[in-house]
Amino acid sequence: MIKKILRMNFKNNYKISVIGLGYVGLPLACELGRKYSVIGVDLNLNRVINLKKKIDINQEVTKNELKNAKYLHITNNHKLAKECNVHIVTVPTPLKNKTNIPDLSYLKKACEMVSKNLKKKDIIIFESTSYPGTSEEFCVPIIEKNSKFKYKKDFFVGYSPERINPGDKKHSLVNSAKIVSACDSSTLNKI
Ligand SMILES: NC(=O)c1ccc[n+]([C@@H]2O[C@H](COP(=O)([O-])OP(=O)(O)OC[C@H]3O[C@@H](n4cnc5c(N)ncnc54)[C@H](O)[C@@H]3O)[C@@H](O)[C@H]2O)c1
Repeated sequence: MIKKILRMNFKNNYKISVIGLGYVGLPLACELGRKYSVIGVDLNLNRVINLKKKIDINQEVTKNELKNAKYLHITNNHKLAKECNVHIVTVPTPLKNKTNIPDLSYLKKACEMVSKNLKKKDIIIFESTSYPGTSEEFCVPIIEKNSKFKYKKDFFVGYSPERINPGDKKHSLVNSAKIVSACDSSTLNKI
């Protein structure tokens, strides 16, 4: 099944990984998985087992929405994302105890994972909430160090702030405008 999904040719040949299938990542992976080849990665094995049974305990995505995502493959094995050329990072950035500073440890780990799967010309889109500068000053150096690739030459980066409002069935991913940004105009057009 997985190989078949990755071999299929989609519009513009985009193969997308979504890293972190929580409130933000799962609706996105499902929506994209209706039209594109998507590898949805979550490190939480219980979450993966439930999602494979079409159960989202967050109740953001229905059984039918999971079924309709025909080209979405859910896994806890991030190596499967090696086949993808667009990587969307939706991992948690909780505030550190009694501070306004986000804990970027999940983001660091996700960047290290993406670095291992990176190929030339890949695009990485961050959706996790953080302070301005996080993508270029925190994430890009980790990716350059671990992949040996050069930013804006070998790989490209975008950012899209998340607007999901858990429990709000009226304003969803598909009917809310989404802001996207990128490191250059060609990447922005693709995103
Ligand atoms: N939930 C919201 O309403 C909301 C709204 C706007 C922005 N955001 C932001 O979006 C980001 C994601 O939030 P969320 O609510 O979806 O979080 P969440 O806790 O619901 O889901 C995150 C998922 O990522 C997984 N994960 C953690 N590290 C991973 C890794 N290295 N590889 C793969 N999976 C990994 C976890 O197991 C978890 O299932 C955060 O930065 C949050 O601040 C959330």
